[in-house]
Amino acid sequence: MSIEETTTSEIFDQLTAGFASSTAAASTPAEAAADDWRRTAVVYQVYPRSFADSNGDGVGDLPGITGRLDALAELGVDAVWLSPFYTSPQADAGYDVADYRDVDPIFGTLADFDALLAKAHSLGLKVIVDLVPNHSSDEHVWFRAALAAAPGSPERARYIFRDGRGENGELPPNNWESCFRGPAWTRTTNADGTPGQWYLHLFDTKQPDWDWENPEVRAEFLSVLKFWLDRGADGFRVDVAHSLIKAPGLPDLDPRVDDGPEVDTEGAFMTGPMWDQDRVHEVYQSWRALLDSYTPDRILVAEAWVQPLSRLANYVRPDEMHQAFNFDYLETGWGAAELRRTIDASMAANQLVGAPTTWVLSNHDVVRHVSRLWLGTDGPRPNGIRAGDTQPDYELGLRRAKASSLLMLGLPGSAYLYQGEELGLPDHTSLDDDLRQDPTWWRSQYTEAGRDGCRVPLPWEAGAPGLGFAPSEQTGLPQPDSSADLARDQQAGVDGSTLDMYQSALALRRAFKLGAGSLEWTAGRGADIIGYVNGEVTVVSNMGDQPVPLPSGEVLMASADLPADGTLPVDVTAWLVSADI
Ligand code: GLC
Repeated sequence: MSIEETTTSEIFDQLTAGFASSTAAASTPAEAAADDWRRTAVVYQVYPRSFADSNGDGVGDLPGITGRLDALAELGVDAVWLSPFYTSPQADAGYDVADYRDVDPIFGTLADFDALLAKAHSLGLKVIVDLVPNHSSDEHVWFRAALAAAPGSPERARYIFRDGRGENGELPPNNWESCFRGPAWTRTTNADGTPGQWYLHLFDTKQPDWDWENPEVRAEFLSVLKFWLDRGADGFRVDVAHSLIKAPGLPDLDPRVDDGPEVDTEGAFMTGPMWDQDRVHEVYQSWRALLDSYTPDRILVAEAWVQPLSRLANYVRPDEMHQAFNFDYLETGWGAAELRRTIDASMAANQLVGAPTTWVLSNHDVVRHVSRLWLGTDGPRPNGIRAGDTQPDYELGLRRAKASSLLMLGLPGSAYLYQGEELGLPDHTSLDDDLRQDPTWWRSQYTEAGRDGCRVPLPWEAGAPGLGFAPSEQTGLPQPDSSADLARDQQAGVDGSTLDMYQSALALRRAFKLGAGSLEWTAGRGADIIGYVNGEVTVVSNMGDQPVPLPSGEVLMASADLPADGTLPVDVTAWLVSADI
């Protein structure tokens, strides 16, 4: 029997037995903060297209999610974040919204949303919806009206229309590029067939940017927030929160920022006149005031690819959002020194503004960490992996991914999980190029695979059609061959499975109140070891190339079986109590 097996269940039973009494209502401000889910929650991201399909059309939907919520409650998460399910032509998988107050028929109806919410709440799960305020779909009724109206009209003033440069306006108004590659401007055609003005889209042509200088746009979004709050949504994840306000006059992007040798693509995504302008905070202050007029447990979470972390902290000042995704953490490779630095910097930046720190390793926009962490700490992160690329080493990737998830789940603050990571799913790295749906693929002239690899349907039951994703063989994007072995039913209740590890970690995290805890580094174990103490729990990860002695103490759990010789193997994380550090 492994050390892991002998100790986990005993300690676990004692802890969970004591847990009910420890969750009694908070009586001091500090206890109230510790019990505030907005500071400590583990949030599970559901990507509706590929989570569960109830009607067999190959696209996941809201009733499909509702039908599987029990599994998430069992997993032990506190909240679910739903990527967009609004009316949309799906040019960017729903991040192109045509109607912010309705559900797209491929996902269901508003009544289906209400049913999902009711079921989630009955299971004790909060529900965060995704708000996309930087741009709408070009099929939004206001954009259609803008196209039909004349330059200078109030209809055009809700978006960013400009005359082109050049003698006949044939050049885009400035040099900005779309995040999905290619120009950030598209020229319109006038009713008489002549070329017209240009409109800005930081993403796809079908995603025109709103003009947030326009009070009508601000009022409209407050009303959209109210719509979902009144329906009972627990809060919002705010898409590209750093882009709403652009620098006055829309100046050209300094080519040194874009092309400088020391700045990579991600750097370019975060620096420039379209990102992180100070006045964007006015918007979030007004949203926060609205949320505060509801029950005091609604949340705003910023998706803001902003650096340095001190700038990101501006989004979570006391009168703005409650949390911001920590993409610095996601982008830090598997290396002790780098991770220690990022963790320190994240905690310090958030402490300055009194906000909780968040942690995340995977989402629908990046290569899953199982398929990423086999890479070294240096070098560019691929935007998708194609069949002809060097293929990830799954075993190494999984081992590091489990170790890295266990390291993350011990940290104080909130943690975000992306659907399927609890199964150890890799990206689909041999997807047929003809099946790609991400606009990055064609906008990059077929050079960047984009994000489809992390968006394939989840495997639920190995023997069922579509591996249980749908009541048919239709799965939208195909699942990779490895999916059947990783299906949830193959892992449930199996000691040592990835699912088992996540489930145990989440239960222990809750029992030891790690989310509300604190972090103290342990010293003297070597440069390649990360060790920290959070309350009663000590977390140690070995990121070196040799086994190291495990601190003495009682092992709660580990990301892989531990040998009997008292060492911590390479690429393994262990949680201990009563550790001698
Ligand atoms: C965010 C979303 C991403 C989307 C983009 C445009 O980064 O996470 O999926 O493509 O915004 O809305």
